[in-house]
Amino acid sequence: MKKPIAGLALAAALALPSVAVADEDAKLIINGEIELVTETEPAAHLDGALRSVRSGWTFRTTETQALQMDDFDNPGMIFVDQALDSFETVDGAAGKSCASCHEDPAEFEGLRAQLPKYNEEAGEVWTMEMYVNNCRTERMEAEAWGWKSQPMLNMNALISLQSRGMPVNVAIDGPAQSVWEQGKEMYYTRYGQLELSCANCHEDNYDNYIRADHLSQGQTNGFPVYRLKQANLITQHNRFRGCIRDTRAHTFAEGSPEFVALELYVASRGNGLSVEAPSVRN
Ligand code: HEC
Ligand code: HEC
Repeated sequence: MKKPIAGLALAAALALPSVAVADEDAKLIINGEIELVTETEPAAHLDGALRSVRSGWTFRTTETQALQMDDFDNPGMIFVDQALDSFETVDGAAGKSCASCHEDPAEFEGLRAQLPKYNEEAGEVWTMEMYVNNCRTERMEAEAWGWKSQPMLNMNALISLQSRGMPVNVAIDGPAQSVWEQGKEMYYTRYGQLELSCANCHEDNYDNYIRADHLSQGQTNGFPVYRLKQANLITQHNRFRGCIRDTRAHTFAEGSPEFVALELYVASRGNGLSVEAPSVRN
């Protein structure tokens, strides 16, 4: 069901296409062999809010799409290579590297598709960054990596890549449910002077153009994303910050419980899409 269009500001910003329109029927096949699901049936919890669930890749131009279709062209893969080195690098007082305990990054196959997820022992919902930092501080006796630090971004991309092609499948019931509900409420809250919610743009107006940008559904199956504009990998929380800042609102910090809740909810909107990490976006 479509909600009424948001404020005048949004109506004014929406414009006719001024850049090449993406080919909506394009298929995402990586290296000529891995076929990804970029459009799927909405999860039941979406309650008819989306007609179909579409990856951000389907909204990008043909040129940007192509960068993700071959690992030699995907600028995000350089960072995956860097993470392979740091996986083997000893750090911290315990004298260990990731590889001391985790034989091969391939053992993390499937993990990214489920994140964020409820961690029984910690009694809270954990993201990739929280799992990695827990190993660093508790098991390596090394310093935690900042969420935006290059080694963290790189490691996130390496571990996420192990699930590429698997369907996003985050759990929203059981102990995760209250966090999911908090995230859902945030998604529909209007922020800032422009009084815009995530839904105003990514649910009510996807496929429209805002300034020169083709609005997607704001899915997170591609994260960490290689963003051409930033010439680096970025995380979900970094993207959320940017989107909220654009509504001229104060925003939450990367790693904050609010953004973890939002991350869980947004991920659940993309259940069924393939993990694309590292994807390429503008
Ligand atoms: C001293 C051993 C040790 C070291 C060193 C270590 N880990 Fe772990 N790690 C574990 C154990 C034990 C677990 C929990 C059991 C499991 O899921 O494998 C775990 C869990 C994880 C998980 C969550 C897996 C899941 O399926 O829930 C991730 C991700 C992870 N480690 C990444 C890393 C990374 C990246 C490094 C290096 C920066 C690292 N670990 C270093 C022992 C270690
Ligand atoms: C004023 C409109 C607007 C609002 C409000 C907004 N966004 Fe966005 N968002 C954009 C634009 C424009 C982009 C870049 C083009 C695209 O992918 O849609 C974007 C991109 C994204 C992406 C990246 C998608 C991908 O494929 O990589 C995510 C995730 C996202 N937004 C989430 C959110 C969340 C969560 C909120 C609410 C906190 C939000 N956005 C609020 C306009 C908005």
